[in-house]
Amino acid sequence: MRNQIIVCENHQEIGDVVATIFAESTTTKPNCVWGLATGASPIPVYKKLCDFYEAEDLDCSQVTTFNLDEYAGRGPGDPDSYYEFMHQHLFDKIPFKKNYLPDAKHSTELDELNESGIRYDAIIDKVGGIDIMLVGIGTNGHIAFNEPSDIISKGTQGVILTEQTRHDNALKFYDGNIDAVPKYALSMGMMSILQSNKIVLIANGPAKALAIRNALYGPITPKCPASLLQLHPNVTFVVDEAAYSLCK
Ligand code: GLP
Repeated sequence: MRNQIIVCENHQEIGDVVATIFAESTTTKPNCVWGLATGASPIPVYKKLCDFYEAEDLDCSQVTTFNLDEYAGRGPGDPDSYYEFMHQHLFDKIPFKKNYLPDAKHSTELDELNESGIRYDAIIDKVGGIDIMLVGIGTNGHIAFNEPSDIISKGTQGVILTEQTRHDNALKFYDGNIDAVPKYALSMGMMSILQSNKIVLIANGPAKALAIRNALYGPITPKCPASLLQLHPNVTFVVDEAAYSLCK
């Protein structure tokens, strides 16, 4: 299968298209395994999946999910954790078989995060890997929390966030207060992400335009982690006009 690019009119349409892809995956494989992302980009996807469920058009009772990442020191009970984000937008609204997130709550040092990452990868292996993976993209081309680097990351591991990422996420979720964004996180590695059967990347808005151009048409390099998706045989980019604007 060749990689696909779907250009949507707006963020809402991205949500509709991607929710439909994920819903269809449960029709072909009711016990499929989803990889899920956080951030502003996937919110309309999760909203649409909830609509499908309300309309009795979606059954996730046999679906297992694995999230991409979590901030170091955050987790259940912390309103700023990705755990609570996922529960608010999806997991408290649709019953799943099981929802996993990287466990970073009690890990603030890189070696503790790495150990937790090894345990997370073992669970992913045990269920047979990820069938369909949803990813966003950072303005610097990061995927999950795999920041631009000289090396390709392997499994789930502790990472140091760049100032750019902390700045971007502070603007979106913490009124610009960069001190509210942890310096470390636990993130699925690029190799784990590339082992998924199918990957769906979403992006909206002009701030993502350069990252999308580099991801689709730039050199394949860990300096732009999203460009590594060019190595995968089944990736669908679902973007709006603004995010696609530098590709024309
Ligand atoms: C964060 C997340 C990524 C996400 C990216 C883009 O750094 N760790 O998984 O893709 O931000 O987020 P947004 O969708 O809010 O632009």
